[in-house]
Parts: sequence; structure tokens; C-alpha cells
Amino acid sequence: MQIRLSPLLSITFLAILPLMPSCEPPVTTDLTKSTLIPQPASVTASGGTFVMNADTKIYVSDSDEGTDAVASYLSQLLSPATGYALEVSSSEGVNELSGILLEVSDDATLGKEGYELTITEGMVKIAGGSAAGIFYGAQTLRQLLPDAIEASVTQEGQTWSIPTGTIRDMPVYGYRGAMLDVARHFFDVNEVKRFIDFLAAYKMNVLHLHLSDDQGWRIEIKSWPLLTEHGGQTEVGGGKGGFYTQEQYKELVAYAAERQILVIPEIDVPGHTNAALASYPALNCDGRAPELYTGTEVGFSTLCTDKKVTYEFLNDVVRELAEITPGPYLHIGGDESHATKSEDYLPFVNQVQGIVKAHGKTMIGWDETAQADLSEGSVVQLWHNADFAKMAVQKGAKLIMSPANKAYLDMQYDSTSRIGLHWAAYIEVPDGYNWDPATIVPGIGREDIIGMECALWSETVTDMADIEYLTFPRLPGYAEIAWSASSLRNWESYEKRLSAHASRMESMGIGFYRSPKVAWAASGKE
Ligand code: ACM
Repeated sequence: MQIRLSPLLSITFLAILPLMPSCEPPVTTDLTKSTLIPQPASVTASGGTFVMNADTKIYVSDSDEGTDAVASYLSQLLSPATGYALEVSSSEGVNELSGILLEVSDDATLGKEGYELTITEGMVKIAGGSAAGIFYGAQTLRQLLPDAIEASVTQEGQTWSIPTGTIRDMPVYGYRGAMLDVARHFFDVNEVKRFIDFLAAYKMNVLHLHLSDDQGWRIEIKSWPLLTEHGGQTEVGGGKGGFYTQEQYKELVAYAAERQILVIPEIDVPGHTNAALASYPALNCDGRAPELYTGTEVGFSTLCTDKKVTYEFLNDVVRELAEITPGPYLHIGGDESHATKSEDYLPFVNQVQGIVKAHGKTMIGWDETAQADLSEGSVVQLWHNADFAKMAVQKGAKLIMSPANKAYLDMQYDSTSRIGLHWAAYIEVPDGYNWDPATIVPGIGREDIIGMECALWSETVTDMADIEYLTFPRLPGYAEIAWSASSLRNWESYEKRLSAHASRMESMGIGFYRSPKVAWAASGKE
């Protein structure tokens, strides 16, 4: 409908326009009302505001290792929406600092990943236990800014104000992960980078890449080139698949490291190996290569555990992967090896564990690997069998908690979800949030666990929109489970904060699932 106004009326109308309230949500000056995810350990408000503008500088001390990189990350993060190119400057010799100061704290109670964020009217100071702690403080600062900070284009006329006060914060778990299955469907470097950015925004610190499965081999192994030249050429449904060159993988590792995220590569053996078996006939007991596979069955493939060449192959794969993976862990899968003779499975896992160790890395395996002779330091990832998890603990191993019925991102929200599976459960947003890794398995406690990981398997996930639909809004909840003390977590508080994140997710361009189980706020603020 078009409204016609007389010339006089329209002049009057235009004159009062600047007096009308803008549609920008009201600015809060009470830091305790901020809707942060994960919930910080403590927040104290002082009732004022700090306003960031084009002249705000980011100061770093020359002596603090890694802080420069966090400063340039922060400057770049804030640039698209503000249109500012915030200058990064040394704090040495500057008497009157005004702006954002990043520094390494000598407060040992913060731990490496903790931070103290102190906001006054003239200054924001992020003191972290290390560059990682400063990075997490910067993510908190990001969430304290108006939601429009997430926009990819300059927000003209927006005031970038932050409530004053102090936040002290540190994570409960040192391992806060998400797994992305790039084997069932392949996701390219830019898609994985966007996924990494999601993790970084919520202070998660591990990206577990499931790099091989029956449907595809996704990482270049120079000594066995057919793995990708042949085994990487398709995916579920028959699409063209793809793979990462070692250079591309290194680019992902570096991109993740700039965001304090460790990449853990998984080569799933001895089952889930049809792509490898199709590429090299010698890896099959009968010496015959099967066809490439584009379906979604599991448990039908196995490397030939009796052949010497199998271990030569694994040694090469592990060696090349270890060379391009700076982190301490390699994941060897080990799940659902139903086609491997049961008497062969344990000796096989033991042998692979030795190969991983020989290349200077620590083995992680899915919970079935708890049955093997676990070496000191080896880690077991619970996904479905509590008895295996207990067995791992009895053998002195630590656990990563990924119970499929709580933490699998590919589980549908409910029976109407447009994609996803439901063999473990339907996981609505409250179900994904309302559990505790330290109490979910009787007999397993906090001291047995290094952290938790949510997992996005990709049988039904074909593109970024699908990733976003299943990942959001559950990911922030998993991040909070891994970061915040259980005494600080409850659905009522989380629901309010999550609902306020709707417009933040929208500004990030995330196509999230608007769960009917969440009372979404009308705008991004309470
Ligand atoms: C798994 O879900 N097969 C680890």
C-alpha cells in the first residue's frame, strides 16, 4: 500500500523523522544482563559504557607471545560491520592507554585458557592466561558488541557500545570439540573454514575431521596417490566428491590455529575403508578391488589385517599425516568394524597404536578401541557403549564424551526435520543442552574426561545450508556444556541467552533451525 501525503504533511513528517526511535535495540549498560554463550564464570557490572570508534586502537605488549596474531584477528573480525581498520599498536612506552589492551596475565588462577575482561569507559583490557585466553576474551568482547557486529557489510550509523564491568572466565574442559564428516559428503576448504569460524565464535578448540570412510578418501597421501585420485572421486548419492591436497589441509590447520583450534585428523580403520580398498586391490584379502560406494550402509568393509602391505600402507598414511598435523593426536577410528574377524580386531588396533606412537602422536579411537591394549595417554571417544568407556577408564585412558543420543549433530530435531537421521534419538535443542558429560555414564566422573565433542556425520548433509541447519542452534549449547561449570548451567538461563542470539546468528548469515522448543526473542536483545 502506498500512503500519499499532502506536501505540507510530508514536510512535517520528514521533520519529525529524526526524533523517532530507531529500530536499533536499546543499549544495555548492565553487563550482568549480557546474553553471553558460553556462560562466563563471573560477571560484575559497573553501569557505564565503552564506545568503540574508528580511532580505537588495539594495544599489545611486544613481549607477549602470540598476542599480535590475536590482535590482528580481532581487528579483522571487527572490520566488515564497523568499516574500521582498527590499528594494532605496541603498548610499550605509551603512558595513557585508551582503547583495547591485550596482555598475558601473570594470574595463575586463570589457567592458560582463562581471561579477565575489564571494561571501563575509556578502556577495554583483556588479560589472558596465554594468547588462547586472550582470544576467548576477544570472543566475549565480540558478543558484548551489538548483534550488528556480525554483519558482513558496514552498518552506517551504528554505535558500537559495550557495558562496563569485569568478566572472569575459564573453561571446565580443555577439549571442546566438533567433528565434521567430510567423507560421506565432501566439503571444500571455504566451507570448512566457515565451520571453523562457528567453533571459534563459541570458544571451542578442536576440529576433528573425519577424513576417510567407505564413500571417500579426502586427504592426499603422496605415497599412495590413488587414494584420492580414485577413492576421492565420489560421495553418498554419487556426487563428484573431492579431497584436500596436503597444502589445502595445511591451510586449514593454520586457519584453525589462528583461532586457537586444533585439527585432529581421523583415518577410520580397519572398517569404513571401501574407498581405500577400491583404490588399492592389494589391501583386500582376495586382492580384488571393490567398486566405489555411494550408499549409506556401514560395517561391510575391512582392510586385510593379515597382510604385511596393510601395515606398510598404514605406516605411510600415519607418517604423512603426522608430518602435516602439528597437534598431538591422530584419530584411527576403529568403530563398527563388523567385517573384521573379531580375533583380528584387537591385534590390529594394537599395531596401529604402535604406528601412531612411532610417529610421535597419541592415538584417539572410537569406544570399541577400549578393548585393545591401550598405551599410556591413548584416548577413547565414547559414542555408544558405556561398558567400553568404563573399560577404557579401568585401563587408565581418558575419555572424550560424544554420546550419540545427546551429541550427534546429524540426529534430527524431530520427525519433521528436513534432513538428518534418528537411529540414536531425536535431539531437540533442550535435549542437546540438558546433560552433563561428567554424570551421563554412571561410574565415569569429571576426572576421567578430557572433554566433549559433538559430531556432524554427513550421510544426509550435502552443503553449507544443511550444515548450518543441523549445527545451529545446537552448537552453542555444546560449547556451553564444554566450557561452563555445570553449577552455572540451566535451561531457563540458556534459553533466554540463546533466543537473544537469534539476530546474531542472522547477522552471521546462518540459516538456523527455529526450534519451537525455544521462546525466540522478537529482536536480538532481551
Ligand atoms: C560412529 O558413530 N560410528 C562413531
